[in-house]
Amino acid sequence: MTASITANTALCGIVLHPADHTRSPAMHNAAFREMGIDAVYHAFDVAPEDLETALQGARALGIRQLAVSIPHKLDVMNHLDEVDDVALAIGAVNTITFEDASLRGTNTDWQGAVRAIERETPLEGQRAVVLGAGGAARAVVYGLRNSGAHVTVLNRTVERAERVATQLGAEGVGKLEDLSGLSYDILVNTTSVGLNSDTSPVPSEVLRPNSVVMDAVYEPEQTRLLEDARAAGARIVEGKWMLVYQAAEQLRIWTGQEAPLETMAAAFDAAGQPD
Ligand code: ATR
Repeated sequence: MTASITANTALCGIVLHPADHTRSPAMHNAAFREMGIDAVYHAFDVAPEDLETALQGARALGIRQLAVSIPHKLDVMNHLDEVDDVALAIGAVNTITFEDASLRGTNTDWQGAVRAIERETPLEGQRAVVLGAGGAARAVVYGLRNSGAHVTVLNRTVERAERVATQLGAEGVGKLEDLSGLSYDILVNTTSVGLNSDTSPVPSEVLRPNSVVMDAVYEPEQTRLLEDARAAGARIVEGKWMLVYQAAEQLRIWTGQEAPLETMAAAFDAAGQPD
């Protein structure tokens, strides 16, 4: 792993629970090696009732940055010195940076989504449909709106879609079934449908050629939705790119440097392989 850990080696990590499936340490440690940064990244399994104590400990230990994942992204906002406007708008923190012993929360998930989609298409003026209305949807909708796309939110439970649309400025709402009647350039799945199963949130007939389809689900890498989209003639973006780009932005925040994306993507892939 890391060549040599010394008294000067910086410590970063991720707090989540449970912690057995995260690929973040693999991505970040690979980036540190490539960038020549003297740091290590560790996954901390922190139960909800221990979160506040864990953050105090992290501050005392001089940890530089912590990523925040399930189930802490909302509750963590109660334990920080500062939460920036982006994280407030999205309603979740996924990154804490420790500066002068002060805990600053922000959210890089939206940049992860935007930069991942931008691999295939610019966003300004595009018509985007977001499937789902949970935490991932909020970050994606924020990112799309911030980049000048027009957004419709479709969800199994329409009331949740309405709430997300109102709070984040999406123009349309509806049920998942409404996709068949919509014209769109970009489709993003943020529901959990397809996670480790051969299912799709929408039937293949409603997928459009010349569109860009991204799935926030990254296991399997080629979800049923992405397979169907490719068969329909759409361009696809795998969910892993959202994770790679949000991690790259975290690295940029505390190192000030651009992260090596391909190295991180390769580390992400390798971490998903069975031993
Ligand atoms: P996250 O924060 O990861 O986005 P979440 O808040 O639990 O997770 O949201 C999960 C999303 O997947 C929701 O949009 C949910 O739809 P509802 O709001 O109607 O619950 C959607 N979802 C989960 N299972 C689904 C299913 N079987 N069919 C359609 N949508 C589903």
